[in-house]
Amino acid sequence: MAMFEHKPQPAWAAVEDFLTVTVVHPDEALERAVQSAVDAGMPAIEVAPNAGKLLKLLVQLSGARRVLEIGTLAGFSTIWMAEGLPDDGKLVTCEYLTKHADVARSNVDAAGLGHKVEIRVGAALDSLAALQAEDQEPFDFVFIDADKENNTSYLDWAVRLGRPGTTVVLDNAIWEGAVLDPSMDQVNAPGIIGALELMGNHPQLDATVIQTVGSKGWDGFALARVL
Ligand code: SAH
Ligand code: DHB
Ligand code: MG
Repeated sequence: MAMFEHKPQPAWAAVEDFLTVTVVHPDEALERAVQSAVDAGMPAIEVAPNAGKLLKLLVQLSGARRVLEIGTLAGFSTIWMAEGLPDDGKLVTCEYLTKHADVARSNVDAAGLGHKVEIRVGAALDSLAALQAEDQEPFDFVFIDADKENNTSYLDWAVRLGRPGTTVVLDNAIWEGAVLDPSMDQVNAPGIIGALELMGNHPQLDATVIQTVGSKGWDGFALARVL
Protein backbone atom coordinates (compact mmCIF):
# COMPACT_ATOMS: atom_id res chain seq x y z
CA MET A 1 0.00 0.00 0.00
CA ALA A 2 1.50 3.34 -1.02
CA MET A 3 1.56 5.87 1.81
CA PHE A 4 -0.87 8.69 1.14
CA GLU A 5 1.05 11.91 0.65
CA HIS A 6 0.19 15.26 2.18
CA LYS A 7 1.42 18.11 -0.02
CA PRO A 8 2.02 21.46 1.62
CA GLN A 9 2.48 24.48 -0.63
CA PRO A 10 5.71 26.28 0.37
CA ALA A 11 3.82 29.49 1.19
CA TRP A 12 1.52 27.64 3.59
CA ALA A 13 4.49 26.24 5.52
CA ALA A 14 6.26 29.63 5.49
CA VAL A 15 3.21 31.38 6.92
CA GLU A 16 2.88 28.65 9.52
CA ASP A 17 6.51 29.21 10.57
CA PHE A 18 5.81 32.94 10.85
CA LEU A 19 2.75 32.26 13.02
CA THR A 20 4.69 29.81 15.17
CA VAL A 21 7.39 32.39 15.90
CA THR A 22 5.09 35.42 16.14
CA VAL A 23 2.06 34.06 17.97
CA VAL A 24 2.28 30.43 19.06
CA HIS A 25 5.62 30.27 20.94
CA PRO A 26 6.04 26.52 21.53
CA ASP A 27 8.23 25.84 24.58
CA GLU A 28 11.41 23.74 24.70
CA ALA A 29 9.55 20.61 25.76
CA LEU A 30 7.43 20.81 22.60
CA GLU A 31 10.45 21.38 20.37
CA ARG A 32 12.12 18.40 22.03
CA ALA A 33 9.08 16.23 21.31
CA VAL A 34 9.20 17.04 17.60
CA GLN A 35 12.96 16.44 17.39
CA SER A 36 12.75 13.19 19.35
CA ALA A 37 10.31 11.81 16.79
CA VAL A 38 12.67 12.71 13.96
CA ASP A 39 15.59 11.11 15.83
CA ALA A 40 13.59 7.94 16.45
CA GLY A 41 12.58 7.67 12.80
CA MET A 42 8.91 8.19 13.59
CA PRO A 43 6.59 9.80 11.02
CA ALA A 44 6.27 13.62 11.22
CA ILE A 45 2.52 13.49 11.55
CA GLU A 46 2.04 15.43 14.78
CA VAL A 47 -0.35 18.37 14.65
CA ALA A 48 1.10 21.69 13.50
CA PRO A 49 2.22 24.06 16.30
CA ASN A 50 -0.69 26.46 15.73
CA ALA A 51 -3.09 23.52 15.91
CA GLY A 52 -1.44 22.23 19.09
CA LYS A 53 -1.82 25.67 20.65
CA LEU A 54 -5.47 25.64 19.61
CA LEU A 55 -5.90 22.34 21.49
CA LYS A 56 -4.33 23.85 24.60
CA LEU A 57 -6.56 26.92 24.43
CA LEU A 58 -9.67 24.79 23.84
CA VAL A 59 -8.79 22.65 26.87
CA GLN A 60 -8.48 25.83 28.94
CA LEU A 61 -11.56 27.56 27.49
CA SER A 62 -13.67 24.46 28.13
CA GLY A 63 -12.44 24.28 31.72
CA ALA A 64 -11.45 20.65 31.16
CA ARG A 65 -9.94 18.66 34.04
CA ARG A 66 -9.96 15.27 32.29
CA VAL A 67 -8.71 14.85 28.73
CA LEU A 68 -8.77 11.69 26.58
CA GLU A 69 -6.46 11.44 23.57
CA ILE A 70 -6.54 8.68 20.96
CA GLY A 71 -3.19 8.56 19.10
CA THR A 72 -0.11 9.69 21.07
CA LEU A 73 2.87 9.42 18.66
CA ALA A 74 5.74 11.28 20.44
CA GLY A 75 3.45 13.23 22.74
CA PHE A 76 3.45 16.59 20.94
CA SER A 77 -0.32 17.13 21.08
CA THR A 78 -0.31 15.41 24.48
CA ILE A 79 2.07 18.03 25.90
CA TRP A 80 0.09 20.92 24.42
CA MET A 81 -3.13 19.68 26.02
CA ALA A 82 -1.52 18.73 29.33
CA GLU A 83 -0.07 22.24 29.52
CA GLY A 84 -3.67 23.52 29.35
CA LEU A 85 -4.79 21.36 32.28
CA PRO A 86 -4.69 22.43 35.92
CA ASP A 87 -1.94 20.81 37.98
CA ASP A 88 -4.34 18.18 39.34
CA GLY A 89 -5.85 17.54 35.90
CA LYS A 90 -5.52 14.19 34.12
CA LEU A 91 -4.86 13.21 30.52
CA VAL A 92 -5.19 9.61 29.33
CA THR A 93 -3.65 8.96 25.92
CA CYS A 94 -3.97 5.74 23.90
CA GLU A 95 -1.13 4.51 21.68
CA TYR A 96 -0.80 1.23 19.80
CA LEU A 97 2.98 1.13 19.43
CA THR A 98 5.23 0.57 22.46
CA LYS A 99 8.04 2.45 20.76
CA HIS A 100 5.88 5.56 20.30
CA ALA A 101 4.59 5.30 23.87
CA ASP A 102 8.15 5.08 25.22
CA VAL A 103 9.28 8.17 23.29
CA ALA A 104 6.14 10.04 24.38
CA ARG A 105 6.65 9.06 28.03
CA SER A 106 10.15 10.47 28.02
CA ASN A 107 8.95 13.70 26.36
CA VAL A 108 6.03 14.14 28.75
CA ASP A 109 8.30 13.54 31.76
CA ALA A 110 10.91 15.98 30.42
CA ALA A 111 8.12 18.55 30.08
CA GLY A 112 7.38 18.17 33.80
CA LEU A 113 3.91 16.86 32.99
CA GLY A 114 4.38 13.22 33.94
CA HIS A 115 2.04 13.46 36.92
CA LYS A 116 -0.86 14.49 34.69
CA VAL A 117 -0.40 12.00 31.85
CA GLU A 118 -1.20 8.30 31.64
CA ILE A 119 -0.24 6.46 28.44
CA ARG A 120 -2.21 3.31 27.67
CA VAL A 121 -0.43 1.02 25.23
CA GLY A 122 -2.43 -1.19 22.89
CA ALA A 123 -5.21 -0.95 20.34
CA ALA A 124 -7.25 2.07 21.35
CA LEU A 125 -10.53 0.18 21.03
CA ASP A 126 -9.31 -2.19 23.77
CA SER A 127 -8.03 0.64 25.97
CA LEU A 128 -11.32 2.52 25.61
CA ALA A 129 -13.34 -0.55 26.58
CA ALA A 130 -11.05 -1.03 29.59
CA LEU A 131 -11.52 2.62 30.58
CA GLN A 132 -15.27 2.22 30.51
CA ALA A 133 -15.06 -0.90 32.66
CA GLU A 134 -13.12 1.12 35.24
CA ASP A 135 -16.08 3.48 35.59
CA GLN A 136 -13.96 6.63 35.96
CA GLU A 137 -15.26 10.20 35.91
CA PRO A 138 -16.39 11.31 32.44
CA PHE A 139 -13.89 13.01 30.14
CA ASP A 140 -14.39 16.74 29.53
CA PHE A 141 -12.36 16.86 26.32
CA VAL A 142 -11.52 14.20 23.72
CA PHE A 143 -8.95 14.48 20.91
CA ILE A 144 -9.18 11.80 18.19
CA ASP A 145 -6.03 11.41 16.07
CA ALA A 146 -5.16 7.74 15.48
CA ASP A 147 -6.04 5.24 12.71
CA LYS A 148 -8.71 6.86 10.59
CA GLU A 149 -10.44 3.53 9.87
CA ASN A 150 -11.78 3.45 13.43
CA ASN A 151 -12.84 7.12 13.53
CA THR A 152 -16.56 6.42 13.83
CA SER A 153 -15.97 3.99 16.70
CA TYR A 154 -13.75 6.55 18.42
CA LEU A 155 -16.51 9.15 18.09
CA ASP A 156 -18.99 6.74 19.66
CA TRP A 157 -16.52 6.15 22.50
CA ALA A 158 -16.06 9.91 22.95
CA VAL A 159 -19.81 10.29 23.49
CA ARG A 160 -19.94 7.26 25.78
CA LEU A 161 -16.95 8.28 27.90
CA GLY A 162 -17.94 11.96 27.88
CA ARG A 163 -20.93 13.85 29.29
CA PRO A 164 -23.22 16.62 28.05
CA GLY A 165 -20.90 19.51 27.26
CA THR A 166 -17.81 17.43 26.49
CA THR A 167 -15.67 18.91 23.70
CA VAL A 168 -14.60 16.54 20.91
CA VAL A 169 -11.87 17.41 18.39
CA LEU A 170 -11.04 15.12 15.46
CA ASP A 171 -7.88 15.67 13.41
CA ASN A 172 -7.45 15.07 9.68
CA ALA A 173 -11.01 15.95 8.72
CA ILE A 174 -10.21 16.96 5.11
CA TRP A 175 -7.22 14.77 4.10
CA GLU A 176 -6.17 16.72 0.98
CA GLY A 177 -9.79 16.79 -0.17
CA ALA A 178 -10.14 13.01 -0.16
CA VAL A 179 -13.48 13.54 1.60
CA LEU A 180 -14.86 14.29 -1.89
CA ASP A 181 -12.81 11.61 -3.68
CA PRO A 182 -12.31 8.49 -1.56
CA SER A 183 -10.37 6.85 -4.40
CA MET A 184 -7.48 9.16 -3.36
CA ASP A 185 -7.03 6.99 -0.26
CA GLN A 186 -9.18 3.93 0.00
CA VAL A 187 -7.72 3.04 3.39
CA ASN A 188 -8.32 6.26 5.28
CA ALA A 189 -10.90 8.31 3.36
CA PRO A 190 -13.91 6.12 4.23
CA GLY A 191 -13.25 6.48 7.96
CA ILE A 192 -12.86 10.24 7.64
CA ILE A 193 -16.04 10.61 5.59
CA GLY A 194 -17.87 8.30 7.98
CA ALA A 195 -16.77 10.42 10.93
CA LEU A 196 -18.00 13.63 9.28
CA GLU A 197 -21.34 12.02 8.43
CA LEU A 198 -21.67 10.76 12.00
CA MET A 199 -20.82 14.19 13.40
CA GLY A 200 -23.50 15.70 11.18
CA ASN A 201 -26.16 13.11 12.10
CA HIS A 202 -25.40 11.98 15.65
CA PRO A 203 -28.29 12.93 17.94
CA GLN A 204 -25.79 13.67 20.75
CA LEU A 205 -23.28 15.71 18.74
CA ASP A 206 -23.37 19.27 17.40
CA ALA A 207 -20.39 19.86 15.13
CA THR A 208 -18.48 21.95 12.64
CA VAL A 209 -15.28 21.55 10.63
CA ILE A 210 -12.51 24.04 9.95
CA GLN A 211 -10.31 23.51 6.89
CA THR A 212 -6.62 24.14 7.46
CA VAL A 213 -3.48 24.59 5.36
CA GLY A 214 0.13 24.57 6.56
CA SER A 215 3.14 22.31 6.92
CA LYS A 216 0.81 19.31 7.05
CA GLY A 217 -0.85 20.16 3.75
CA TRP A 218 -4.58 20.71 3.25
CA ASP A 219 -6.49 19.20 6.14
CA GLY A 220 -8.91 20.15 8.89
CA PHE A 221 -10.09 19.98 12.49
CA ALA A 222 -13.62 18.80 13.26
CA LEU A 223 -15.05 20.20 16.49
CA ALA A 224 -18.09 18.88 18.29
CA ARG A 225 -19.97 19.36 21.54
CA VAL A 226 -21.69 16.43 23.20
CA LEU A 227 -25.37 17.27 23.78
N1 SAH B 1 -1.72 13.11 18.25
C1 SAH B 1 -0.33 13.04 17.83
C2 SAH B 1 -0.20 12.36 16.49
C3 SAH B 1 -0.76 10.97 16.44
S1 SAH B 1 -0.26 10.09 14.97
C4 SAH B 1 0.22 14.45 17.76
O1 SAH B 1 -0.44 15.31 17.15
O2 SAH B 1 1.31 14.71 18.29
C5 SAH B 1 -1.24 8.66 15.13
C6 SAH B 1 -0.79 7.71 16.23
O3 SAH B 1 -1.84 6.76 16.39
C7 SAH B 1 0.46 6.92 15.87
O4 SAH B 1 1.40 7.01 16.91
C8 SAH B 1 -0.03 5.48 15.73
O5 SAH B 1 0.89 4.51 16.16
C9 SAH B 1 -1.26 5.50 16.63
N2 SAH B 1 -2.25 4.47 16.29
C10 SAH B 1 -2.56 3.95 15.10
N3 SAH B 1 -3.51 3.01 15.21
C11 SAH B 1 -3.83 2.94 16.52
C12 SAH B 1 -4.74 2.16 17.28
N4 SAH B 1 -5.54 1.25 16.72
N5 SAH B 1 -4.79 2.35 18.61
C13 SAH B 1 -4.00 3.28 19.20
N6 SAH B 1 -3.13 4.04 18.54
C14 SAH B 1 -3.03 3.88 17.22
C1 DHB C 1 -1.25 10.70 9.16
C2 DHB C 1 -1.91 10.64 10.39
C3 DHB C 1 -2.25 11.81 11.04
O1 DHB C 1 -2.90 11.79 12.23
C4 DHB C 1 -1.93 13.03 10.51
O2 DHB C 1 -2.28 14.14 11.21
C5 DHB C 1 -1.27 13.10 9.29
C6 DHB C 1 -0.93 11.93 8.63
C7 DHB C 1 -0.91 9.46 8.45
O3 DHB C 1 -1.20 8.36 8.97
O4 DHB C 1 -0.34 9.55 7.35
MG1 MG D 1 -3.50 13.73 12.83
